[in-house]
Amino acid sequence: MGKIKPLIAIDTNVKEAFMRHLLNPLDFSVEEIDDLLRIAGDIERNPSKYAHVCDGKKLATCFYEPSTRTRLSFESAMLGLGGSVLGFASADSSSASKGESVADTIRIISCYADICAMRHPKEGAATVAAMHSGIPVINAGDGGHQHPTQTLTDLLTIYSLKGRLNDLTIGLCGDLKFGRTVHSLINAMVRYPNIRFILISPPELQVPEYIREDVLKAKNIEFKELGNLDEALPDLDILYMTRVQRERFFNEEDYIRLKDCYILTPKKMKLARPDMFVLHPLPRVNEISVEVDKDPRAAYFKQAQYGVYVRMALIMKLLEVSPC
Ligand code: NCD
Repeated sequence: MGKIKPLIAIDTNVKEAFMRHLLNPLDFSVEEIDDLLRIAGDIERNPSKYAHVCDGKKLATCFYEPSTRTRLSFESAMLGLGGSVLGFASADSSSASKGESVADTIRIISCYADICAMRHPKEGAATVAAMHSGIPVINAGDGGHQHPTQTLTDLLTIYSLKGRLNDLTIGLCGDLKFGRTVHSLINAMVRYPNIRFILISPPELQVPEYIREDVLKAKNIEFKELGNLDEALPDLDILYMTRVQRERFFNEEDYIRLKDCYILTPKKMKLARPDMFVLHPLPRVNEISVEVDKDPRAAYFKQAQYGVYVRMALIMKLLEVSPC
């Protein structure tokens, strides 16, 4: 029997060797991130310039975990670039519920789309997907590990509000153990000069050992760990609040005991500098009282808007397209 000839002769090994993914903020150099933030700023000012750069391209959003902002901002980003979107919003509505592996799923998605944003409850899932993918994979959150596109959003927000990414005291407050946005933000910020962290959490929810040892201590970054938010507030340029990650707890009692450990109120905001900004990746549960929303320093809704511009810039980079 003769050998079956491939329909199209593509050397997938060569193609994949040069393909970029975003799995961790460190996959991009500081210069590349600066460039993304600059383009995102231009997109905000001149959206029409970018309205057709992805005509004919498709983004797949493969979300095995709940999401509002990340999935919809990815979809809004691709639509804003002239492309289209397809995907699933829960594991139940995909063949994962029949036992299909991430590796097999991404092989299939590679036949249907040009780029994929994936969220998964297991740490490392997006990395596994990238290893088997014929298209760029973006990690849209893998368990309690990393969330690099939230970090791009956070960097754009901080840069827009403070005019710099260096010389900042950043307070990270809440669930620093399971909060993947915190891990990615620390990874990214330590590359800028003169960054100090105040890590505010109960002892049970402190940053994981690998962040403390391999990132903060290894790079000689100034940081302190506190239990008390009031003590930290007067020193901060940025306060990054986070939700206690109920879905990653092993038992409900611990969650109930810890869930309201920090609640930012207008009274507490009086302790902060007039030019300190409050960020939160959202969703908020109780950790920022709704009265704080009126404070001009509350930047979390604006932050969600920045997420669209920066994801537009990211999709363009990974698909290697630009306005003519
Ligand atoms: C965050 C996440 O999914 O990690 N949300 C988001 O993507 N904006 C934060 C959270 O869920 O607490």
